[in-house]
Amino acid sequence: MPLDATWVQAQLPGRPISWFATIDSTMFAASRLASEHAPSGTVVGADEQTAGHGRYGRPWHSEPDAGLYFSVILRFPFPPDALPLVVLALGLAAADAILKSTGLVCDLRWPNDLLIHEKKCAGILPQLEGSAIIAGFGVNVNHASFPSEIAPLATSLRIESGLAQSRETLLAELLPAIDSYCEILVSDGKRAILDMFTQASSYVHGRRVRVDQGDSTLIGITVGLNAAGFLMLRDDMGKAHTIIAGGVRPCF
Ligand code: BTN
Repeated sequence: MPLDATWVQAQLPGRPISWFATIDSTMFAASRLASEHAPSGTVVGADEQTAGHGRYGRPWHSEPDAGLYFSVILRFPFPPDALPLVVLALGLAAADAILKSTGLVCDLRWPNDLLIHEKKCAGILPQLEGSAIIAGFGVNVNHASFPSEIAPLATSLRIESGLAQSRETLLAELLPAIDSYCEILVSDGKRAILDMFTQASSYVHGRRVRVDQGDSTLIGITVGLNAAGFLMLRDDMGKAHTIIAGGVRPCF
């Protein structure tokens, strides 16, 4: 069933929401709106994406009517160089909204994966557009199964709860949560988000992980976040590394 955007709009008066049956990618449309000076909080979402993509240009599986696929324009007076912290704040917002609307507890894998039982149920794609940040959210809500190539790594809120979940309720929780966590970053500063992320994520301390960095792979134990929001790792030789980018995966 298509998302009932009228119901969501009624829960969030004044919020600009454009909802499409089908779109190439909500990132492209949000980026265009941001360049036309659309206000902070503007949302572009769709029931289906034909060119949905994630980090590093990987395709984002966007089964029609099953997930939440949207992008939101953020214009907050963030401190300089705060993008890594904004990404952590957005993950916290998504975990909070999923907990409130479904009762499911998500783990957070640096920088922006939401996991349940080690499988990914949501991802976030940040993108700069002039002075705005476009945050793309993909949440696997009511998927009953996944294509074989991602099935071992992906899950949905429906699979994890055994119940069909309301995409409308989740969206109506998530949009205010995004604002709240961005406001925490602005008003309480980076340390507040670093502490909350550290509390909420099993990946920040003591996890043995593999980090694929294109032409090389790092293996080591995570030893916390630095002040900029980057993940720190100690390799098997005891050497310290700061992970600025790259896919973090468990390593057994
Ligand atoms: C990731 O984990 O790699 C991030 C995935 C982000 C996917 C969302 S779906 C809505 C928005 N439109 C896109 O094309 N991508 C983001």
